[in-house]
Amino acid sequence: MKGVILAGGLGSLLLPLTKVTNKHLLPVYDRPMIYYPIQCLVNAGIEDILLVTGGSSAGDFLRLLENGEDFGLARLSYAYQRGEGGIAAALALAENFAQGEKICIVLGDNIIEGSIKKAVQDFEKQERGAKILLKRVEDPERFGVATLEGDKVRKIVEKPSQPESDLAVIGIYMYDSMVFEVINGLEPSERGELEITDVNNAYIEKGVMSSEVLDGWWTDAGTFESLLYASQLVAKGGANKV
Ligand code: G1P
Repeated sequence: MKGVILAGGLGSLLLPLTKVTNKHLLPVYDRPMIYYPIQCLVNAGIEDILLVTGGSSAGDFLRLLENGEDFGLARLSYAYQRGEGGIAAALALAENFAQGEKICIVLGDNIIEGSIKKAVQDFEKQERGAKILLKRVEDPERFGVATLEGDKVRKIVEKPSQPESDLAVIGIYMYDSMVFEVINGLEPSERGELEITDVNNAYIEKGVMSSEVLDGWWTDAGTFESLLYASQLVAKGGANKV
């Protein structure tokens, strides 16, 4: 399986920290944020990785990460996203890189304590479709929220004001090669973006979505509160680290 890290966006919730740099280059405790999703993929045995970024700091990722030597990688691939089209639009840029293989996507501001190795191995065995990872949270309205029927995901609602559950869909997704067709068929949401939640709901409707609940802590780091919280969690130890 190949890995794709999405590290674009304006980081507008973190202004002025993101006025002259990309959110994913900001520090989370003692490493730049982007180190954690890369290490998460490497720890799961995924070593063919594409980084999608954009904006005026894109070159800084090359200067920082080079060919991925710090992570024991032989090389890193890069793609540039023009403008702001949403997570699914950034993912569309990975089509050539994927070459028909399954892919594991990690949002560049998602940091986890544990490993996704077992989930990746389970998805390798899954004949087709997609897999999402879920985590119980106290503030589900900030995320995509899954409603389960038994252990099957029935639907996902993006940032609902009245969440039906406390199960957040975390920013780590696994897809088969059909994902690019699914993205092609999407319409922009009210905020003008191609939503990853619409991609996931398309897989749910086809009956080929599996899910697992993640062990260990998980946080995003795209707001002042969550950026601070992420640093505190990493400082306590346990995160995916070089
Ligand atoms: C995105 C997704 C959301 C998911 C979250 C995880 O939201 O749209 O479904 O729960 O990432 O971090 P964003 O934080 O980009 O608004």
